[in-house]
Amino acid sequence: MTRSPTSPLVVLGSGYTGLVLHGIGASQGRTVHATSRNPSNNLGGIPSEHRLRFDLEQSSTWQNIPTSADLIWCFPATPLEQVQAFARTLDAPARRIVVLGSTSAYEVSDHSTEYPPPWIDESAPIDLTKSRVQGEEYLRKEHGAIVLRVAGIYGSGRNPLDWITSSRVTASRKYVNLIHVEDLAAICLLAGRR
Ligand SMILES: NC(=O)c1ccc[n+]([C@@H]2O[C@H](COP(=O)([O-])OP(=O)(O)OC[C@H]3O[C@@H](n4cnc5c(N)ncnc54)[C@H](OP(=O)(O)O)[C@@H]3O)[C@@H](O)[C@H]2O)c1
Repeated sequence: MTRSPTSPLVVLGSGYTGLVLHGIGASQGRTVHATSRNPSNNLGGIPSEHRLRFDLEQSSTWQNIPTSADLIWCFPATPLEQVQAFARTLDAPARRIVVLGSTSAYEVSDHSTEYPPPWIDESAPIDLTKSRVQGEEYLRKEHGAIVLRVAGIYGSGRNPLDWITSSRVTASRKYVNLIHVEDLAAICLLAGRR
């Protein structure tokens, strides 16, 4: 079923990706709310009527999420107990939930000496010992969430060449996978609709 593009949307955690998501969603005519643990400091560019205070660690803020809005979850879905408690307050599956995971979910074993390393796709095993993976799998299985396992995010202000010159990224046996933040935002919006 394709979800109406007019359903209100909440971007949970409006950091680098969340703010781009807000901009693209709003430019498509959707009502998009953005959350922050500190909206007055961090959501200055968002119209005040669309700013929400939300902190997964403070249950008193959970009621600020409008009922029936779709959600795009843009911070690590952890710890599991709080993810579960918050998700139970939502009326899913009436609403769509898209969760941004990480390709680190597939780092089950790093002991292989095989080179080049094997290709990994969605059928590869995931590391359920990782707290965020547990949160993502809970949301996927119990609340019908769509989990996107995201590669390194680049874009304006995040230039992979800077990561090399500053030695944040050093020589490695691994492949590097990257996605531009605007492509990621567009995919999140589409995933929430279809
Ligand atoms: N960056 C990458 O290369 C990369 C790669 C793979 C996957 N990912 C994943 O993709 C997602 C988006 O990445 P990003 O780099 O755009 O993230 P980001 O810039 O860190 O933004 C996430 C925002 O979520 C809010 N937040 C954090 N913890 C929270 C909590 N407990 N409760 C409520 N809000 C919270 C914070 O905003 P406030 O301080 O304003 O509340 C934070 O700025 C994340 O889940 C990240 O782990 C990122």
